[in-house]
Amino acid sequence: MLKLRSARRKDLDAITEIYNEAIIKTVATFDTEPKTYEDQKKWFDDHGSKNPILVAELNGVIVGWASLSKWSDRCAYSDTAEISLYVREEYQGKRIGRRLMEAIIKEGKKTGLHTIIARITEGNELSLHLHRSVGFTKIGIMKEVGKKFGKLRDVHLMQKIYKNH
Ligand SMILES: CC(C)(COP(=O)(O)OP(=O)(O)OC[C@H]1O[C@@H](n2cnc3c(N)ncnc32)[C@H](O)[C@@H]1OP(=O)(O)O)[C@@H](O)C(=O)NCCC(=O)NCCS
Repeated sequence: MLKLRSARRKDLDAITEIYNEAIIKTVATFDTEPKTYEDQKKWFDDHGSKNPILVAELNGVIVGWASLSKWSDRCAYSDTAEISLYVREEYQGKRIGRRLMEAIIKEGKKTGLHTIIARITEGNELSLHLHRSVGFTKIGIMKEVGKKFGKLRDVHLMQKIYKNH
């Protein structure tokens, strides 16, 4: 059974493994070098009470994670977060991404966020679809801002604003 829960320090190896797989194989993230455990510990600790990280656990195996990280360290942005969402390659296409997406959005509302930004690399139709389906709208395209695997790539910016705060 799939269980969605808050991430703990002990999940960091699995989270890192999933993220590093995406760094090496995909343009979903513009990181290009695999993260170390130390990098990830810092990343984890940068998430305060307002910035949740969730993991998806299937029969004891961490198969995906999602986060609402700080958009900026500048204090006026404290109710704005950036979403990240990754599912282990062999478990993709099984609705785990959708479940994680829905759960992290609920969590962000609980922690008092006002809005979420998504940066999605051109061509990631699945991710664009998934974000649209939960109420993100496109707010712009940053042209040719990243170079990965030898090609300049655009990034689509999407945003969701929580209603009824
Ligand atoms: C993006 C990601 C998290 C989605 O998770 P997933 O478990 O594979 O996706 P799901 O099975 O939940 O499917 C999500 C939706 O995409 C749809 N979909 C699948 N392939 C698609 C495609 N090529 N084009 C458009 N939609 C597609 C599915 O039908 C589903 O939509 P529905 O619920 O309306 O039917 C996962 O594929 C992943 O980790 N990809 C690599 C990293 C990445 O791109 N992260 C996002 C960075 S912005």
